[in-house]
Amino acid sequence: MKTGKTATPPLSGLSDYARDARKLAMAPFSNFKVGAALLTADGEIITGCNIESATYGLTLCAERIAVFKAVSEGFKKFSAIAVVADSYIVTPPCGSCRQVLWELCGNIWVHIADLKGHKKTMRLATLLPEPFDKRFL
Ligand code: THU
Repeated sequence: MKTGKTATPPLSGLSDYARDARKLAMAPFSNFKVGAALLTADGEIITGCNIESATYGLTLCAERIAVFKAVSEGFKKFSAIAVVADSYIVTPPCGSCRQVLWELCGNIWVHIADLKGHKKTMRLATLLPEPFDKRFL
């Protein structure tokens, strides 16, 4: 798996890391493999893949694995996440991941791609308008 310090890559470069991470996905129930690569503000890349449980609700998405790994390793500032899946339409982060990404990463770039090279890039705020977060507590 590719990890470690790199210069800030273009977002298409970041999705190469997500594509690699996807190969490690454990998705025996859905067969829907997802990879994610989170770019920190200082150019580190932390990857994640989805991991499913026989108790389906315990399944974790690739994006949350990546961000929880990163935060647990001390990273605090992020600039982008790439997500790669093999779907008919490029796969955006699910609602739970949008919320967690917003709270832990802020308004990062979200780059989504499939294995055929279709891609789309947007800000997280576009995917999660009017978010609930600590400002309300
Ligand atoms: N999944 C992700 O990993 N990320 C997404 O953005 C959407 C869904 C996973 C969860 C589950 O393992 C499988 O895809 C099917 O929902």
